[in-house]
Amino acid sequence: MSQPHPSSHSIPHAGGVIRVVQLTDTHLCKAQGGTLLGMDTDHSLQAVIDLVKAERPEIDLLLGTGDLSDQGAVEAYRRLQEYFAQLTDASCWLPGNHDDRANMELVANASLRLCREIRLGRWQVVMLDSQVPGEVGGELGSQELELLQAALGAAAEQGLFSLVCLHHQPVPIGCEWLDEQMVADAAEFFAILDRFPGVRGVLWGHVHQQVDRRHGAIQLMASPSTCVQFAPGSVGFKSDAMPPGYRWLDLHEDGSLHTGVSRVHGVAFTVDLDSGGYL
Ligand SMILES: [Fe+2]
Repeated sequence: MSQPHPSSHSIPHAGGVIRVVQLTDTHLCKAQGGTLLGMDTDHSLQAVIDLVKAERPEIDLLLGTGDLSDQGAVEAYRRLQEYFAQLTDASCWLPGNHDDRANMELVANASLRLCREIRLGRWQVVMLDSQVPGEVGGELGSQELELLQAALGAAAEQGLFSLVCLHHQPVPIGCEWLDEQMVADAAEFFAILDRFPGVRGVLWGHVHQQVDRRHGAIQLMASPSTCVQFAPGSVGFKSDAMPPGYRWLDLHEDGSLHTGVSRVHGVAFTVDLDSGGYL
């Protein structure tokens, strides 16, 4: 029986830069070594984790932004927990369209991993759920939008800057097939963000490719999957030969946000580039 999760948590931070790493769309299968479009998603995740270890030895917070499992298996979340623990115990997860929230909760059991508001130093990270059970596309809905508004209101009162995370993209990214799946109530989402000048970043997964844009003072960021990549600018489904990777974000005390994407090189991955489909 899973325990209720704390909705918010403060991670002690000595000050200075807050170092965040995002790992997204890990798509772990029920059994170790399972594949997505021919790629062993355990193998690719471990390769990305090895890269993070080499490049980002100090991490204050690790974010898993959905599609953490490929089919929602409890076994996948148990392995995910072990993989993430190679980097830090301070990890937070949110669900994507491939995830099973009940099984995520079963594994995360009253830990901080499904916490919705995390405070570190002068920053707050908000974790939203854009999953619509049974659907590929995303929508926040009134409950998540109310949670967002309350979290940003509390952050504003405390003079905190905010990074808002979700699984689906809240803006079109230029792939027609993926943009049919973008957050359905994105206009309402941005209407809330626009009322809070402390919001400095929106971060998501789902699109399996890097996107860096701006919405006023807000940086909009999508990131490569730790496994299969999708081709930018495609009309229909198209995978891409770009290697797996991750995003790092440095959150500064003055509210500035520096970020970048790093990809695995020197490791051979198999991916079916001619596949016509993907759920
Ligand atoms: Fe995905």
